[in-house]
Amino acid sequence: MEKPKNRVFSGVQPTGNLHLGNYLGAIRNFVGLQETHECIYCVVDLHAITVWQDPKELAANTREVAAAYIAAGIDPDKHIIFNQSKVSAHAELAWILNCVARIGWLNRMTQFKDKAGKDREQASVGLYAYPVLMAADILAYRATHVPVGEDQKQHLELARDVAQKFNNDFNVPDFFPQPEPLIMGPATRVMSLRDGTKKMSKSDPSDYSRITLRDDADAIALKIRKAQTDPDPLPETVGGLEGRAGASNLVSIYAALSGLTQADVLKEFGGKQFGVFKPALAELAVAKLSPITSEMKRMMESDQGYIDTVLANGAERAQAIAGPVNKRVREIVGFI
Ligand code: TRP
Repeated sequence: MEKPKNRVFSGVQPTGNLHLGNYLGAIRNFVGLQETHECIYCVVDLHAITVWQDPKELAANTREVAAAYIAAGIDPDKHIIFNQSKVSAHAELAWILNCVARIGWLNRMTQFKDKAGKDREQASVGLYAYPVLMAADILAYRATHVPVGEDQKQHLELARDVAQKFNNDFNVPDFFPQPEPLIMGPATRVMSLRDGTKKMSKSDPSDYSRITLRDDADAIALKIRKAQTDPDPLPETVGGLEGRAGASNLVSIYAALSGLTQADVLKEFGGKQFGVFKPALAELAVAKLSPITSEMKRMMESDQGYIDTVLANGAERAQAIAGPVNKRVREIVGFI
């Protein structure tokens, strides 16, 4: 059976409110891997339903993530874009791996504790098993590299443990490769525009906390103008940003969008007031984001057929890879 050397797998959940953090922290980095890797980018709808999703919105959000992938520059002819629920190997393999993973491992997952909150008894069983489904996603393609943000590193560790235990339990050394994390460049942690100590999040009640990929130029500029800062001018050095979460976040967003280092940004804006910096940041954000957001809007409003064709075609190609892996797993486990 073929052993890939450079196969990337990653996923984004279709839970709505795709924002600047999703773009800078994930999708943009996916684009850059296309030259060097064989890439499989998934819209993880099975993961999305671990918390309640309105069915109509789930469908629209699934198309929106696919549109974001395409508009950001992922080439659906050279690489694979698809939604998870279309390829049954994910769910099937997840069940088998649920029987490999240990409860003790899952009990250590910090994201479950955060997401389940105080009322853990009311969380879905799916939310608890979420990291095993993520392991199945990766292992179904025997992916070698997984671009993830900081918050998903623990889940990737679990995927590695599951792969190893499967190989050991069934005495198939090297069947599943150990997937390596690709930790994405600096400035990928985009913080809330209302509170620079909290991550930008789809679930923040304030719309002003995030720039979404549905915002038009006016909305982007307004949100940046209203972003929380402090009365001091920008510092001359990166060290001077310490203890100034709001300022630090805006500088890091400027750096990420422009491709400059934070030090370079401060070379240009150090000593200047936010009244100067914010309009410059708004202009940059609009210039970089609006080609993507307007193409997404066009596809969502008048070319849904294209999105659906990309997803159907991607699912077929994904199935061609995951199907044989799943078949081999069934044999290894002893299913007839
Ligand atoms: N859990 C990831 C997130 O919320 C999404 C995801 C699902 C994923 N399956 C994956 C990421 C496999 C990488 C690989 O961001």
